[in-house]
Amino acid sequence: MSVRAVLRMGDERLQQVAEPVRDFGGEELRELLRNMRDTMEALSGVGLAAPQIGVGLRVVIFGAPPDRNNGQNPRYPDAGAVPYTVLINPVVTPLGEQYEEGWEGCLSLPGLRGVVPRFLHVRYQGHDEYGALIDRTVSGFHARVVQHECDHLDGILYPMRMTDMSRFGYTAELFPGRETQEE
Ligand code: NI
Repeated sequence: MSVRAVLRMGDERLQQVAEPVRDFGGEELRELLRNMRDTMEALSGVGLAAPQIGVGLRVVIFGAPPDRNNGQNPRYPDAGAVPYTVLINPVVTPLGEQYEEGWEGCLSLPGLRGVVPRFLHVRYQGHDEYGALIDRTVSGFHARVVQHECDHLDGILYPMRMTDMSRFGYTAELFPGRETQEE
């Protein structure tokens, strides 16, 4: 296991614009992905971006690990619908103007949740860890996760996308008695 410390909001490395990956074959990328996956799984995250562990590269991972909790993530019970994905140098294109509000958390803001408007439908393109092309059109929670993770690559954290700060707070107060929502 190579679980890394996740940087928290306020660390300036989370606000920087990450650099594209140019070398797909290297051990460096493989090690980064291993560390990201171990870290995300250890914290029951649904996604993680490389800048969150202090690496300024355009790499995100997301999805619910199929081998744990019957595909269910304790923090996000809906996450089973999102396949585990490594996405490098992503481009996210909104499809249509429709957006949806939903609760989000972030491993860089432990213990907090907020309602964030996101595009309902998006297309995302990028590369997997071998350099193969990924091109998907997704909706709802899957689209939300992709938008959240890719925002990290441009130094954007979800509170910066919020429009109603009255729906931002500590999970324990917002959802009392809901153990599944704990960090
Ligand atoms: Ni996040």
